Amino acid sequence: MGTDPIPTPSIEELQDDPMADGTTSIFRRRELLRPQHVPQKDRIVGRDREIETVEALLKPAAFGDPPESGFLFGKTGTGKSLVAKHVTGRARGIAQMQETDLTAAYVDCDQYNTETRAARKMAFEVRDAIDPDRYIPKDGVGASRYYDALWDGDGLLHESDSLIVILDEIDKLGDDTAEILSKLSRSEEAGKTGCYIAVVAISNKTDYTDAPDERVASSFQDDPIIFPPYDATQLQAILERRKDAFKDGVLEPGVIELASALAARDHGDARRALDILRSAGKLAEKDGSDRVTEDHVRKADEYSDLNRSIQVIKNGTPHSRYALYALAYLTKSKLSDSFSTGEVYDTYCVVADVVAGESLTHQRVLDLMKKWTLPEITESRHTGGGKGQGSYRTHRLLHDPDVVMSACLESASDQRNVLDALSESSI
Ligand SMILES: Nc1ncnc2c1ncn2[C@@H]1O[C@H](COP(=O)(O)OP(=O)(O)O)[C@@H](O)[C@H]1O
Ligand SMILES: [Mg+2]
Repeated sequence: MGTDPIPTPSIEELQDDPMADGTTSIFRRRELLRPQHVPQKDRIVGRDREIETVEALLKPAAFGDPPESGFLFGKTGTGKSLVAKHVTGRARGIAQMQETDLTAAYVDCDQYNTETRAARKMAFEVRDAIDPDRYIPKDGVGASRYYDALWDGDGLLHESDSLIVILDEIDKLGDDTAEILSKLSRSEEAGKTGCYIAVVAISNKTDYTDAPDERVASSFQDDPIIFPPYDATQLQAILERRKDAFKDGVLEPGVIELASALAARDHGDARRALDILRSAGKLAEKDGSDRVTEDHVRKADEYSDLNRSIQVIKNGTPHSRYALYALAYLTKSKLSDSFSTGEVYDTYCVVADVVAGESLTHQRVLDLMKKWTLPEITESRHTGGGKGQGSYRTHRLLHDPDVVMSACLESASDQRNVLDALSESSI
């Protein structure tokens, strides 16, 4: 018999272990501040109209009638995932009361980011809800095998009245988006399943005239349901309703107001507001303090600002990331902190050649670099050159170059290869 490599101490040994003390000085129910937490209705602020609109789409399913699909659209932290889960959960509860078979599946396409992965996740979710013992292969098969498992012959759904699928962050499926949507709608039209299917698709993309999103939007009957950002007062109300995450009296006066004001600065993002409050609590805990102060909130905000920037960079298009990498590399390796487009471009070409095997034109790269100024990743200026040189544009990085470089390139091998190539080049 093998021995467990992880030893469990005896009860006596654990008696004086400080870790055995489960109470903390700051939090009472920390889980209320997790981004995945779905609050009860009375804690949801300012989304009545959106909730009612989604209710109207899904409610029929609770009574055995066909539900409708919808497309939720808006910036991050505006309550899209929350509203979709909240309304779907209630519809499912009401269906249970009505003895209607309503199955719900939630797929986070950021995590399951190809058609096969998303279809597999959907099949597994439905299986777990309807028939947990049913065998579905984990790998080695394509998306169609998972659709078959759902609605072919005696597929999982053959006795269900309806299925509601939430496809969250559907834009992360890229070119596969249209594919999965058309499979879901065609299966129903073709009568492959007697089960009604509704899709709640959610996109975080802010520019909804982007080609893929427009195609997605046009596959829905109704207009997208737009989620506007919150204002500081709404963010404050959202945080107030989660106060019981903390022990009584722990939050100093002004802490919630400050966290909401800071989160409203960019666009009113509730995830950011909750994030700041949670990190502020963690910082207070680390300090051994029994109060969360405005100072903790400010520190937490700086930290969350960096995280936000990393996310923005990771979401950038490949070549815009290579160009940004070039600027970060120059910032790190040269004495200056401001570089002309020409300098960025020469470095960019090395990076792009290594990672993508091709590079874009000078003009395209200039356009891509300009896009980093809006989210305040870089700053850009027009500078008059010396005599007869004309004017040119310079770029300055607003964040730590090491952090930016690692956010720009996904794989460790790309990072190694690029650094090798750059150190061999004359840059
Ligand atoms: N109107 C609201 N009332 C209460 N909490 C909210 C509200 N909107 C968002 N939240 C909270 O903010 C966080 C982010 O919301 P989420 O629905 O994930 O945003 P999105 O999907 O639009 O990016 C979640 O923890 C959610 O509970
Ligand atoms: Mg979301």
